[in-house]
Amino acid sequence: MTQTPRVLVTGGAGFIGSHLVDRLVADGHEVVVIDSLAVGREKNLTQSLRTGKCSFHRADIRDREAIASLFEGVHTVYHLAALADIVPSIEKPEEYFTSNVDGTFNVVEAARASRVKRLVYAASSSCYGIPEKYPTPEDAPIRPQYPYALTKYLGERIALHWGSVYAISTVSLRFFNVYGPRARTSGTYGAVFGVFLAQKLAGKNFTVVGDGNQTRDFTFVTDIVEGILSAAKSDVRDEILNLGSGGTYSINELCQLLGGTIEHIPKRPGEPDCTFADTTKAQRLIGWKPQTSFQRGVQIMLEHIEDWRDAPLWDAQTIASATKSWFDRLGESATV
Ligand SMILES: NC(=O)c1ccc[n+]([C@@H]2O[C@H](COP(=O)([O-])OP(=O)(O)OC[C@H]3O[C@@H](n4cnc5c(N)ncnc54)[C@H](O)[C@@H]3O)[C@@H](O)[C@H]2O)c1
Repeated sequence: MTQTPRVLVTGGAGFIGSHLVDRLVADGHEVVVIDSLAVGREKNLTQSLRTGKCSFHRADIRDREAIASLFEGVHTVYHLAALADIVPSIEKPEEYFTSNVDGTFNVVEAARASRVKRLVYAASSSCYGIPEKYPTPEDAPIRPQYPYALTKYLGERIALHWGSVYAISTVSLRFFNVYGPRARTSGTYGAVFGVFLAQKLAGKNFTVVGDGNQTRDFTFVTDIVEGILSAAKSDVRDEILNLGSGGTYSINELCQLLGGTIEHIPKRPGEPDCTFADTTKAQRLIGWKPQTSFQRGVQIMLEHIEDWRDAPLWDAQTIASATKSWFDRLGESATV
């Protein structure tokens, strides 16, 4: 093995993927990126593409023939490609299943055929649903509340199973509420930062769900990248590790740090009042500890606020209509 082997990042034009690619290129790797641009943007890769060490392939992981040859000579696969929103997963479950489950199957099969040595799967803390225990450890019960959460969990099972049966050294990392520059600015109603930053730029109220006392384990993207690389470099295999900030912060605290006025919108079914990762396993097995405080992370977001200038501007009415299927479908069935 050379010191800086060729690696492949699926979903590399997306938010977390592009930060990972930048770091891998900076570390001297030759990086192959696969992304369908369903959500990601080639622009996110500008810095890495300029170096000549990164090649971008617009391809869909649902199409195994289109991606198979790109795995040749690859040592490590970082599998981040997925559809990653809640509401569309309720409205179009088949797209989520084919991208996140069938797509993962295609990725591990391509990895197997090319004798890839190491695979890192980007899993989601949404598999815990509404946890009973905080901070939440990796062995907490699995209770997905909507199709996105289920499909990510099924992808995790596939990746770990292929890892153990076909000797691809595999580790699965469950991310908690990642934020940072390049977080998606367009399209469907989604993560709180994008919604609030566009509202702040327009001088509008922050649309706070419920009473705003719910808390999230907001984890800064560069810390997640560090965790991904620490896991990849370690000899840990067949394991699941939580990657979270080690803290949990309320939406009201976020509003205070961003500065602005608030209006309340209804609480949504199936959403936990708290997400909070127990990260002792990651600390113990890969020596990873996040470095970015929430205050510093929010400050960095404010320094990049202009990136949200063209993002959709949501208000209570447009959110109510965009999330209608969430309330209609999950209102009755969400398990609490
Ligand atoms: N952002 C978070 O808070 C968070 C939390 C938990 C897990 N994750 C997981 O981390 C990964 C990256 O998330 P992100 O926040 O960067 O999202 P993102 O949407 O910015 O990135 C995902 C990328 O995958 C690409 N993609 C989607 N379907 C594809 C397909 N069929 N073929 C090829 N490419 C496809 C998209 O175009 C996008 O660039 C995802 O797997 C997500 O489930 C993210």
